[in-house]
Amino acid sequence: MNRQIFSKFRLKDKEFKNRLFLAALATQYADKNGRVTDSMIQYYIHYALTGVAFLVVEAASVSNEGRGWSRQLSANHIDALPGLTRLADEIGERGSLPILQLHHAGRQALPSDKNNIVVGPSAIRCPVLNRPVRVLSPKEISQLVEKFTFSAELAYKAGFQGIELHGAHGYLLHQFVSPITNKRDDEYGLNNPEPYKFPLEVVRSLRLNFPKMLIFYRISARDYLPKGLTIDKTLPFVQRLLENGVDLISVSGGMYQSLHGPESIVGPSTPMGVFRNDSRAIKEFTKAPIAVTGKIQFPSLADEIITNGEADLIGLGRMILRDNDWVRKASGEVLEPVRECLLCNRCNYHKRGCPDDSDKPFWLRE
Ligand SMILES: Cc1cc2nc3c(=O)[nH]c(=O)nc-3n(C[C@H](O)[C@H](O)[C@H](O)COP(=O)(O)O)c2cc1C
Ligand code: SF4
Repeated sequence: MNRQIFSKFRLKDKEFKNRLFLAALATQYADKNGRVTDSMIQYYIHYALTGVAFLVVEAASVSNEGRGWSRQLSANHIDALPGLTRLADEIGERGSLPILQLHHAGRQALPSDKNNIVVGPSAIRCPVLNRPVRVLSPKEISQLVEKFTFSAELAYKAGFQGIELHGAHGYLLHQFVSPITNKRDDEYGLNNPEPYKFPLEVVRSLRLNFPKMLIFYRISARDYLPKGLTIDKTLPFVQRLLENGVDLISVSGGMYQSLHGPESIVGPSTPMGVFRNDSRAIKEFTKAPIAVTGKIQFPSLADEIITNGEADLIGLGRMILRDNDWVRKASGEVLEPVRECLLCNRCNYHKRGCPDDSDKPFWLRE
C-alpha cells in the first residue's frame, strides 16, 4: 500500500524507516527500585517487532521525589545502567530505534515523605491529587538541571539514540510553563524577558553535553483550562526550545486536571486526531520536525496528517495497545481493518497493555 506514513524520515544522522512510533506508555513493569525487569524487556521486544520506526520508552524518573507512580522506571542512579543498556540493545536489535523519555512529576508526584508533600514551581495543588506542594528553591532547580543531565548521560551510555523530555501532561517541566502552576516572581517565573528559564536550562545542558544525541521535547500545546496555556503562548516557547537545541517537538495536550475524569480530552467526546490542529499550527510557525500523538485511530487519518504536512511523525499509544498489528494492517501486510480502541482508558490504570478480555500479559495470550 502506497502510504506516506511508510516514507523514510531523516533527523540529523538518524534515519527512521517510517513515520510511526510507539508513544511513551508507562508499564509499571520496573522493579521496586525502578530497575528494568525481564517483563519490561519482553514488553518492548514485542513492540519493537510491530514495525514502528522507533519506541519512546516510558517516562523514566530523574529523581526519587519526582516519581509519578509505583514501579516507575528510574534513570537516576548508576545502578540503572545495566538494565537500560539491555533494554536499548534488545529494542535496537529488532530494527526499532530506542528513545528514552525523562520525567519528573513535580506536583503530580507520589509523595516521598510522610507529610504527603511534593515539589513544584509554586504552592498550588493539583486538584486531582490534592497533595501539598513545597516550592522549589533556585538552588534546587539548578540541581534538577544536573539530575536531568545525569539521566541523559545514562541514556546515552546505555545506547539510546535520543531522549525525550517529558514537558507535557502537567508534570514538572510543564508546570514551569503553565500560568496555572507557575506563579513565581523570581527568574524562574513567567513575567520575565526570558520566561521559560528552567526548561531551557535543561535543554541547553543536554545539548552542550550530548551534541550528537537526539533531543525530543514533548509539550502540552494547551492546558484546556480557563487561564491556562494556549497555543499562542506555546508558539514562542517552542521557538525558544528549538533555538536552544531541541531536534523535534512532540505535540500533546492537557494536564491531570484536563486529562483525568469523564471529560478527558483523550476520551470519546473529542474528535479523532485531537491535537492535529495544534501540531499544524506549530509546524506552520516553526517549520521544525514535529510529531503528534492522540486519538489517531486509523491509518488513513495518520496518512492524511503526514500528507498534509501537519506533522512529520505519528505517535501511537492506545491504538497500538489495542491492535498490535496496527502497522502491518496499515501497510497491507495484514489484510484486516484495525481493531478500534474503545477510548475507555482502562489501560491507563491497568498499564501493561490493553486489558481486553484477559488478565494475562498480551504476549502470553493464545
Ligand atoms: C497506559 C498509558 C501510559 C502512558 N504513559 C505515558 C508516559 O509514560 N509518558 C507520556 O508522555 N505519555 C504517556 N501516556 C500518554 C500516551 O503517550 C499518549 O499520548 C496518549 O495515550 C494519547 O495517544 P493515543 O490516543 O494514541 O493513546 C500514557 C498513556 C497510557 C494509555
Ligand atoms: S483499555 Fe480501552 S483505551 Fe486502553 S487500549 Fe484497550 S480499548 Fe483502548
